[in-house]
Amino acid sequence: MRSLLVLLLVAAASAKVFERCEWARKLKASGMDGYYGVSLADWVCLTRWESNYNTMAKNYNTDGSTDFGIFQINSYWWCNDYIINSHNACGINCSVLLSDDVTAAINCAKRVVRDPQGISAWYGWRYNCEGRDLTRSNRRISSASSNVLVFLYLR
Ligand SMILES: *[C@@H]1O[C@H](CO)[C@@H](O)[C@H](O)[C@H]1NC(C)=O
Repeated sequence: MRSLLVLLLVAAASAKVFERCEWARKLKASGMDGYYGVSLADWVCLTRWESNYNTMAKNYNTDGSTDFGIFQINSYWWCNDYIINSHNACGINCSVLLSDDVTAAINCAKRVVRDPQGISAWYGWRYNCEGRDLTRSNRRISSASSNVLVFLYLR
């Protein structure tokens, strides 16, 4: 029983799927709210459609490239998967984009939006978030984070 519990914990540690508000707080703490004009609600919407907040998401494209992690960052332009010839603009091994430590993924997403096409690089954003009114989800995010703060304070 104890070893089963340990196994479950190990499995959970190596494949982190963020809960929405937890992810929004992480993005905010990482300076993503308003980064290059991209709102927190846009980042949350983008990652919802790209990976459903799953750090281990990995999808293969028909051109031989692969999309990695919670932001589904592409191996042709941004990271080296040692399979295809990559521009590797983020200067990283694509595997680090699958880590439950999302530091490298967030830094690389920042690099992507600094490029001229900005957030339009993500089809998940263009098809599902661009031009949508995300203010309702914004409110949900901020009320959820203040609930957590109240909870922590009351404890
Ligand atoms: C990339 O990272 C993965 C996972 O850590 C590792 O197995 C692989 O050897 C790395 N590739 C290179 C060429 O460093």
